Amino acid sequence: MRILITGGTGNTGRPLAAALRARGADIRVASRHPRSAADHVRFDWADPATHGPALEGVEVAYLVPPLATLEPMPLVEPFLAAASGVRRVVLLGSLAVLPGAPGIVELERAVQRMPESSILRPSGFMQNFLGAHPVATGIRERGEIVSASGPGRLGWIDAEDIAAVAAEVLTGPAPAREHTLTGPETLSYSAAAAIITEVTGRPVRYTEVSVDEQTRRLSAFLPQPYSRALAAVDADIRRGSEDRTTSVVEDLTGRPPRSFRDFVAAHMA
Ligand SMILES: NC(=O)c1ccc[n+]([C@@H]2O[C@H](COP(=O)([O-])OP(=O)(O)OC[C@H]3O[C@@H](n4cnc5c(N)ncnc54)[C@H](OP(=O)(O)O)[C@@H]3O)[C@@H](O)[C@H]2O)c1
Repeated sequence: MRILITGGTGNTGRPLAAALRARGADIRVASRHPRSAADHVRFDWADPATHGPALEGVEVAYLVPPLATLEPMPLVEPFLAAASGVRRVVLLGSLAVLPGAPGIVELERAVQRMPESSILRPSGFMQNFLGAHPVATGIRERGEIVSASGPGRLGWIDAEDIAAVAAEVLTGPAPAREHTLTGPETLSYSAAAAIITEVTGRPVRYTEVSVDEQTRRLSAFLPQPYSRALAAVDADIRRGSEDRTTSVVEDLTGRPPRSFRDFVAAHMA
């Protein structure tokens, strides 16, 4: 059974590829810049000529949709059309519902029409606190986290836990239609900042801004319509839309999800 991992070099795709490789699975790691490793394949959402070759012999696919767009279907449609040999698709969705994004709902419906499908709906990634993400750059450059979510809490999850669930859902028996994935606890940004301060000894403060101001700030990193939708999600989070945890990570992997404190300690450098 060959498994294609789109976004195979990303936050969830990289640990997923490692987990499946360790099990001896036949995988294809999709990337715009494939390394010479035998299991990498060139794949670009924007280049449909790469879709067919990437799908060769593939029965199961992990789908990380095109990033930072409210209109993924024009890019995903040619892929699904080329995926007639695929019997199971696991889509990386989100617990957050982006407003004004019928294209994302359409993508989920198209995936649900595949013979077997499952949608993973994770809460906010702990990886947002690392690397080039705006939350991480704010912490490193100004010792500040900015959002419009105020005291609203999220069930922050380590992308490695999402990958561990994905490995089970891709290779196990016929999967449930969707899985809501969270870490072990919910934390506001302010509580997350306090944990980072405590663990690293470096002061990090939280600043709440309006949805308009957050849209403006995110637009420096992301397309404007997508920034507006993400900032609107902050307002939902403020009202409690993500203040929940589930036991799915432990139910499917047999071990509890990583806590934010552990994650910060592991990534302190
Ligand atoms: N961050 C969160 O808090 C959060 C929460 C819930 C859901 N999500 C969802 O999770 C998904 C992944 O987000 P992420 O930020 O963690 O991204 P990520 O998976 O780390 O994204 C980077 C990956 O996308 C691939 N990629 C980028 N452009 C591509 C293109 N044109 N064609 C093919 N592949 C391309 C990259 O591959 P190469 O560079 O190797 O080509 C890389 O593997 C998003 O759909 C997001 O909505 C995120």
